[in-house]
Amino acid sequence: MNKIKVSIVGASGYAGGDLLRLLLQHPNVELHQVTSERFAGKPVTIVHPNLRKQTTLKFSSVNDLEKVDLLFTALPHAKLMNNIENFRALADRIIDLSGDFRLKTAEDYKRWYDLEHPNPELLNEFVYGIVELHREEMKSAKLISSAGCNATSTILPLWPLFKNDLVDLSKPVIAEAKCGSSEAGNKASDASHHPERSGCVRSYKPTRHRHTAEMIQELGNPIEFSATTIEMVRGILMTAHVFLKEGVTELDVWKTYRKEYGEEPFIRIVKERSGIYRYPEPKILAGTNFCDIGFELDPNTRRLVVIGAIDNLMKGAAGQAVHAMNVANGFEETAGLGFTGLHPI
Ligand SMILES: NC(=O)c1ccc[n+]([C@@H]2O[C@H](COP(=O)([O-])OP(=O)(O)OC[C@H]3O[C@@H](n4cnc5c(N)ncnc54)[C@H](OP(=O)(O)O)[C@@H]3O)[C@@H](O)[C@H]2O)c1
Repeated sequence: MNKIKVSIVGASGYAGGDLLRLLLQHPNVELHQVTSERFAGKPVTIVHPNLRKQTTLKFSSVNDLEKVDLLFTALPHAKLMNNIENFRALADRIIDLSGDFRLKTAEDYKRWYDLEHPNPELLNEFVYGIVELHREEMKSAKLISSAGCNATSTILPLWPLFKNDLVDLSKPVIAEAKCGSSEAGNKASDASHHPERSGCVRSYKPTRHRHTAEMIQELGNPIEFSATTIEMVRGILMTAHVFLKEGVTELDVWKTYRKEYGEEPFIRIVKERSGIYRYPEPKILAGTNFCDIGFELDPNTRRLVVIGAIDNLMKGAAGQAVHAMNVANGFEETAGLGFTGLHPI
């Protein structure tokens, strides 16, 4: 079996933890080092108890990293962009989960992140990490930037509609995502304090969410996006409203999704006539790499309601990154990503 040597930077975090879980089971990966500054020298199981009896690995410090074939970086925003050359010296290939290299221009970093990007010349070298949109470029990519979780939940359901020219571009496109608490990472804050977070339905970014920049970049069209946190640990439910061109039917929308995604292993079109799971729902996607997509057309107004559901830590982070690794290394695309989810859960 063809195996590559892989390390994870930021493996004590939520995204890094799911990478660890996936890579320990991956048939083509030998996991070499996994980092945490806070827990260096300690077993990974003190942070990720789900991995007991799965590994004896201990956390290392970033300063002790050795050369590998591939490095996953899952650090907070603005850590990699300032140290990219150090990490490049350690691996032939880097797959980054942060927002540091997702946008293609320094102007966009100024506009959306309010910062001067320290390495703008590298922005075009990073391939944007959604496999379904960038599979061919990814096959030879040395630098891959995984997409934002909210961006993934919005781009995947909307992209076929724009690509196939079904949308009335004179009308606004509006999307809203309901998000689980793990999106915010494992650092405690006032907002994550249990009495404040529990049971909440909290509008946390009604306008100017940073992931909007990725959506505009990948869809090639303006989009309005809002995010709301709800009582859920993992998962995103995205609801978008687009107006279809005159003459486009619900059957056309069906055929378009079938054409674009019929062969995709991680995309499922969900549209049942009856039953409680008629439309996508993140609850049954926990731990899986699926993006479920549903839709319904109001024939009176031509408004198409598009619904997307993912696990933010999987299709929105670690699962997407492992999928990208599989493509870039010529492995079976679904390797390490076979978990089907649980029902009931
Ligand atoms: N959570 C999500 O749903 C999600 C989805 C998609 C993308 N992302 C992105 O993925 C990245 C990680 O997210 P997360 O949610 O996993 O965050 P997290 O839970 O806060 O984990 C952050 C990780 O980075 C390490 N770290 C922090 N500062 C460091 C430093 N100065 N030097 C070295 N290591 C450092 C932490 O290790 P220590 O133990 O040393 O603190 C920890 O392992 C972020 O950029 C985030 O935007 C997250």
